[in-house]
Amino acid sequence: MSAAQRLIRKVPVDDLAEAEAKVELAALAEELARHDEAYHRQDAPEITDAEYDALKRRNDLIEKRFPKLVRGDSPNRKVGASAAAGFAKVKHIVAMLSLDNAFSDEDVAEFDGRIRRFLNLDADTTVEMTAEPKIDGLSFSARYERGRLAVAATRGDGAEGEDITANLRTIRELPDMLMGDPPRLIEVRGEVYMTKPDFDCLNRAQAAKNAKIFANPRNAAAGSLRQLDPAVTAERSLRIFAYAWGDVDRIDWKTQADFLQRLKSWGFPINRETKVCGGLTDLLAFHERLQSRRAELAYDIDGVVYKVNRLDWQQRLGFVSRAPRWAIAHKFPAQQAETVLEKIEIQVGRTGVLTPVAHLRAVNVGGVMVTRATLHNEDEIARKDIREGDTVVLQRAGDVIPQIVASVSKKRPKKSSPFKFPDRCPVCGSRAPREEGLVARRCTGGLICPAQAIERLRHFAGRDAFDIEGLGEKNIQAFFADGLVRTPADIFTLQARDTKSLTPLSRREGWGPKSADNLFSAIDARRTVALERFIFALGIPQIGQATARVLAQHYGSYDEWRQAMVAAADREGDAFRDLTSIETIGPSIADDLVEFFAESRNLEAVDALIDALDRVEDFVTIKVGNSKIAGKTIVFTGNLVSMSRSEAKARAQTLGAKVAGSVSKKTDMVVAGPGAGSKLKEAEKLGIEVIDEEAFLKIVGA
Ligand code: IVH
Repeated sequence: MSAAQRLIRKVPVDDLAEAEAKVELAALAEELARHDEAYHRQDAPEITDAEYDALKRRNDLIEKRFPKLVRGDSPNRKVGASAAAGFAKVKHIVAMLSLDNAFSDEDVAEFDGRIRRFLNLDADTTVEMTAEPKIDGLSFSARYERGRLAVAATRGDGAEGEDITANLRTIRELPDMLMGDPPRLIEVRGEVYMTKPDFDCLNRAQAAKNAKIFANPRNAAAGSLRQLDPAVTAERSLRIFAYAWGDVDRIDWKTQADFLQRLKSWGFPINRETKVCGGLTDLLAFHERLQSRRAELAYDIDGVVYKVNRLDWQQRLGFVSRAPRWAIAHKFPAQQAETVLEKIEIQVGRTGVLTPVAHLRAVNVGGVMVTRATLHNEDEIARKDIREGDTVVLQRAGDVIPQIVASVSKKRPKKSSPFKFPDRCPVCGSRAPREEGLVARRCTGGLICPAQAIERLRHFAGRDAFDIEGLGEKNIQAFFADGLVRTPADIFTLQARDTKSLTPLSRREGWGPKSADNLFSAIDARRTVALERFIFALGIPQIGQATARVLAQHYGSYDEWRQAMVAAADREGDAFRDLTSIETIGPSIADDLVEFFAESRNLEAVDALIDALDRVEDFVTIKVGNSKIAGKTIVFTGNLVSMSRSEAKARAQTLGAKVAGSVSKKTDMVVAGPGAGSKLKEAEKLGIEVIDEEAFLKIVGA
């Protein structure tokens, strides 16, 4: 029983003295808030809805009898805290991207080289970059209209975040009105963080209240920002650094350094460690120096971010998938610790791969409590001779999953034996052989293996796929076990079946009318889905988010895509040729796609899903201006003189064109330079428009 629970009493409200009522209201506020959090945020309610409602009713009765005692943080003042599931969503007009990582000096040198090649620079030209500390916090985007804060959001999945305007407003360092001469419209982006002293102070207070202890300042900042009640956020000392922009209507700065100065003039805190560096040597020196001072800084950092200083160069460099080509995060080396490996568990993934996971005695590695680590595969365990009971060296670098570096042989128990990797699936018992030349063992149980089915459903409902709030691992497992949800379509027919069921969800253990309703509305909210999410959600081997997007862009609509995938079974036919002409689709990915659609049970599952959904939205190509090449498929062949091939492709894509690697009937245009060969001939044979570099430059406005 928690301290708060003990204070919630059983005596009739009419018999309470005022002083008792006061204590009890405080306890109820705390207790209800804790359950809101467990329910909405952790997807792990600790009490039934009926119990929750009883607490809430008691709170209301006491408040009614003692109106003077109604608290600032009364459960009734939290707008939507118990009704709406969390925060409203905000679409980012300009995506919030992430950064590629560099882990060594060589990686940074390669980054510099890549930029030079892309921009066609000679060896004497300096590429100036800003070096900024990489703040270990949470990114935010704050939209200012006519200088006034309008909306603020978290990063979310980069395309859509959560509306945290009320919470962010409580941060004193974030200006409500901008000073000076800002653009009429600008989204300012940066990091919310907590200083190390504030973190210690918060944890001491939490301990005194018997409340949650945070593992590190980043978690504390996250927990404080994601409060449904902004009054709680206001009590936590959160700070910000600004460093980037999103949507904007006027850019009158020419470099990142300029922009940081503008931010400062508008009233934002910027990081004073930031420096403009003249080249590779300079960058690496900055990194080394900052790393040596890391402990002295009042806030946590996990590396240095380098950004090409010149904006015109940034624009030419553009983006690859989810990260800019013009920036990179140079991480600090990993932090290490020793602990005991208690057990090796074999998990079965959605494609049947068996993955060994180490269960560890809890240990703090660089500010994070670690209890699990991946062991990768059978060979890795054998190579490092890692055994259950061993003392192992653990390492964690930034946000990556902790790794086991080695086992400490001196500390090995006497009676230990090498780990024997199973050759059968631990869940369904099917054979799990190793395919020729591959490191992984794979369960052959396919569609009969419950572990794979559950993982596929989890992937399907996950954040980057259908993103169904409240349908996490625990619920999927329970629904699967009871036969309620076995395929994706079942998720969308759940409510219809539930209303006819003798044992509806609302009467199941741990559920109530409110929680069941919340789940059904979360499912309803996803009956329309973007094509790229739909494709990714199916969990076809090798089809990650980036590839799903490429497919969505290429085929445009669900119907086109499905038809083409079925037709591609004929490997000599046009559909297969068209599929493999897509730049990033090699033969192995094409095979996985074809095989998925060749399995009739997969087709049935996909069709049933389509029936249960409202709509799969067509892919929208963002047309920049009215470019002649928007929506067209272009193939480059031969050499280019004025820019690199990568830059030419990137420019075409920015204008909404698709770039293919080979010529087919679907090609609209071929850009041919000196040295062009078979692709040019093929284009001429098919009567496809062929242009030279000069004409291409005119189209892209270079
Ligand atoms: S720039 C398009 N600058 O790191 C560039 N990010 O790993 C967007 N971060 O999501 C990011 N300090 O949350 C940038 N000085 C800094 C940063 C920084 C911390 C975070 C940010 C981003 C993540 C990417």
